[in-house]
Amino acid sequence: MTYRGLPLLIRIAVALVIGVVVGVTVALTLPSAVSGIASLALATPEKLPWISSRVTAFVAYLAVAGSVVYGLLLSTKLLDAIAHRPVSFALHQDLAAVGLGLAAIHGALLGLDRTIHFGLADLLVPFASPYRPVAVGLGQLALYAMALVTLSFYTRRRIGTRRWRLLHYVTFLAFAGATAHGILSGTDTTRPWAFAIYTVATVAVVFLTTYRIAIGVAAARERRAAGGIAPA
Ligand code: HEM
Repeated sequence: MTYRGLPLLIRIAVALVIGVVVGVTVALTLPSAVSGIASLALATPEKLPWISSRVTAFVAYLAVAGSVVYGLLLSTKLLDAIAHRPVSFALHQDLAAVGLGLAAIHGALLGLDRTIHFGLADLLVPFASPYRPVAVGLGQLALYAMALVTLSFYTRRRIGTRRWRLLHYVTFLAFAGATAHGILSGTDTTRPWAFAIYTVATVAVVFLTTYRIAIGVAAARERRAAGGIAPA
């Protein structure tokens, strides 16, 4: 699909819709955000590492999920008509790196928590956590998987496109691990906004992956059919 960009009228409509969605979201969530920030200010200092870890956890999760969704939009070519491919690719790569950095900060902040003591080994060794070891272990594995995938972006030329592509499948394990980890170990899972984040991200990834597989199968069938009639 070649880049055409969106027609002017559609661009104006998209800007309006985004403006309305952002406006409504801010209006609806501002009161609870303000009271949340106020309760943060009132929180005792020893609770701050735990609270900051939870905040960075969700931003990391959004970046990781965003990167996976962007990658799928790239591989299905769904965005190509309206966004330049190099820009989409850069966003996909940067979101993965930001997600990895924030997830590492999210884990490291637990080391400062005094309620539950996390030593260096508890933080680094999967399933060694003193708190919900299995659920936290999934997050640790997701972090290492994300590190592998993010590193592969920067070594793509050296390792070759085939290996890079193979390594890219690890992203699905990282996303599934991070989602299960967040749901099972988080204290915010039952809150509607947290539940909405996990649901929207998972539905988007499952839908786009199914679509990607379907177009892959259709293309393979077409190639086989063309191969069958070509040689006379
Ligand atoms: C890709 C990597 C990771 C992502 C995306 C991620 C994301 C999340 C999310 C979204 C939550 C839920 C927070 C809440 O409900 O308040 C969470 C909780 C938690 N994570 Fe992670 N995490 C990752 C890696 C790690 C690692 C490496 C560790 C430990 C070394 C860890 C330890 C924890 C703990 C202890 C909780 C429970 C905090 C609470 O009670 O809210 N996570 N994580």
